[in-house]
Amino acid sequence: MRKKVTKAIFPVAGMGTRFLPATKSVPKEIMTLVDRPLIQYAIDEARAAGIKEFIFVTSRGKGALEDYFDHAPQLEQELRKKGKTKLLKTLQSTNMDSGAIAYIRQHKALGLGHAVWCARRLIGNEPFAVMLPDDVIAAEKPCLQQMVEAYNETGGSMVAAMEVEPSKASSYGILDTCEERGDLVKVKGMVEKPNAEDAPSNLAVIGRYILTPTVLQNLNKLKSGSGGEIQLTDAIAQEIAQDRDVYGYRFRGQRFDCGSKSGFLQATVAFGLAREELRDDLSAYLQSISQIDRAAQ
Ligand code: G1P
Repeated sequence: MRKKVTKAIFPVAGMGTRFLPATKSVPKEIMTLVDRPLIQYAIDEARAAGIKEFIFVTSRGKGALEDYFDHAPQLEQELRKKGKTKLLKTLQSTNMDSGAIAYIRQHKALGLGHAVWCARRLIGNEPFAVMLPDDVIAAEKPCLQQMVEAYNETGGSMVAAMEVEPSKASSYGILDTCEERGDLVKVKGMVEKPNAEDAPSNLAVIGRYILTPTVLQNLNKLKSGSGGEIQLTDAIAQEIAQDRDVYGYRFRGQRFDCGSKSGFLQATVAFGLAREELRDDLSAYLQSISQIDRAAQ
């Protein structure tokens, strides 16, 4: 029987310079979409997919992340005393089991592949997920859960995939594909951030991966690639060279690039509109400003 995917790595060591000055003192992953930190969306998605062990690859200045995942007994007591049951439930839903989270430091910013490699001892010889919290995916069935279900059928390594504008290829890992099977695409090559004219397709890797432990062995040997960094994409591409299966999975859902300001704002609006208590107010406001915009034109 195939081993279950129960561990996930969350690479959160990045400095978040695109969001300076906010990220001077707040880790990017703590920035909020409506009222939940970015990282909470990733954790909820991982839990829905059956993940039990959460491995954070962090760096200096990320202490607020550890605090966030601590229980807050005083706050809970206050809310209980005041009868604020709904808020108490919301708060408690973020509590993690003791020992479920591990923190590893990435001592040097050597790239995504290196960050994942830093967690190798905690992964051991099991398949594992990697989740990039910048990529927030709104979906009826959470994206990682869709992928775990597909992985249980196929085995191999799997990356979330989405079509992007050809001109945007240089921002992504791009798949070279050979066979389409419904939501699944068999991959015969992968390139990290190619120039638009060299891109083998417009199918891009989005930040959800299910990887076999051999990818970690490939990372052992990797030299730096695109941008002078050790790339996860290159380690997965080596799987193909070693005759192991790699798949792209066209997930159902809408992805927001919360690593960019515009993507973050779009996600804020979309997740705001999805909240019953905010929908009417927010959509009335959006309509009013779009009318002003049209009048101005
Ligand atoms: C990373 C990966 C890239 C992937 C992207 C998805 O790049 O290296 O292959 O397409 O995430 O968001 P980053 O955006 O961290 O530069």
